[in-house]
Amino acid sequence: MPERAVKGAINGMELEVPFGTTVLKAAEILGIRIPTLCHHEGLPPWGGCRLCLSEIKGSLAASCMYPLREDGFAVFTDTLRAREARSFVLSLFLTRAPKAPLIRKLAAEYGAEPFARSPLEADGCLRCGRCVRACQIQASEAVSLAGRGSERRVSPPFGKPPENCLGCLACALICPAGCVPFKDDGVKRRIWEKDFELAPCPVCGKRTHTYEQLKFFGADKPLCPQCQGRATAEALKANEFVTEF
Ligand code: FES
Repeated sequence: MPERAVKGAINGMELEVPFGTTVLKAAEILGIRIPTLCHHEGLPPWGGCRLCLSEIKGSLAASCMYPLREDGFAVFTDTLRAREARSFVLSLFLTRAPKAPLIRKLAAEYGAEPFARSPLEADGCLRCGRCVRACQIQASEAVSLAGRGSERRVSPPFGKPPENCLGCLACALICPAGCVPFKDDGVKRRIWEKDFELAPCPVCGKRTHTYEQLKFFGADKPLCPQCQGRATAEALKANEFVTEF
């Protein structure tokens, strides 16, 4: 059955997209940039940061979550109302993470200033939940968002070194504010107050994976990313087939 499509316009530019395409995705097709923070292609959608607000049917909606399901949709991504809403959100983020380069850049773009008097802690964390969702995808769920309001924070259970953390660094590497601290000296790694030993690559000896990761994913001798890349390229070359004319 052919895929159902819907037709409409974003900022006056017409397009046709598969039924249910999000506003964010549709805008991307037209080359229209909508700023995002909690959204990440590799993670389940969340809609928590509200930075991607656009105006649809006279209301503001999160572009990363809003599915286009009706013909004649009319989305406006850059109205004064949408820009003011983003500026407010960025003021919150700037108060939370005044040193984060990405936040500073976006705040400058939208003219946002940090709130002068605020109960929000400037601990660098945006509460965007990316680290939590990345951890869930790894099936370890070592950290979660706990507490409410200004007390809300990312934490391992009971604030203790998380037993099921694999030391994979997914949480740290996906954080848009770079606020998950870790240490890695090429032999040992420390994150969430937990220490890990790194296993050597069987080809070059470089240590990139923790033993906990290897055990969890059932791989006893993993190659480091560079050796893995080389091995994949060689395998592809060996299987190259020649087309005869
Ligand atoms: S990016 Fe859409 S709500 Fe965060």
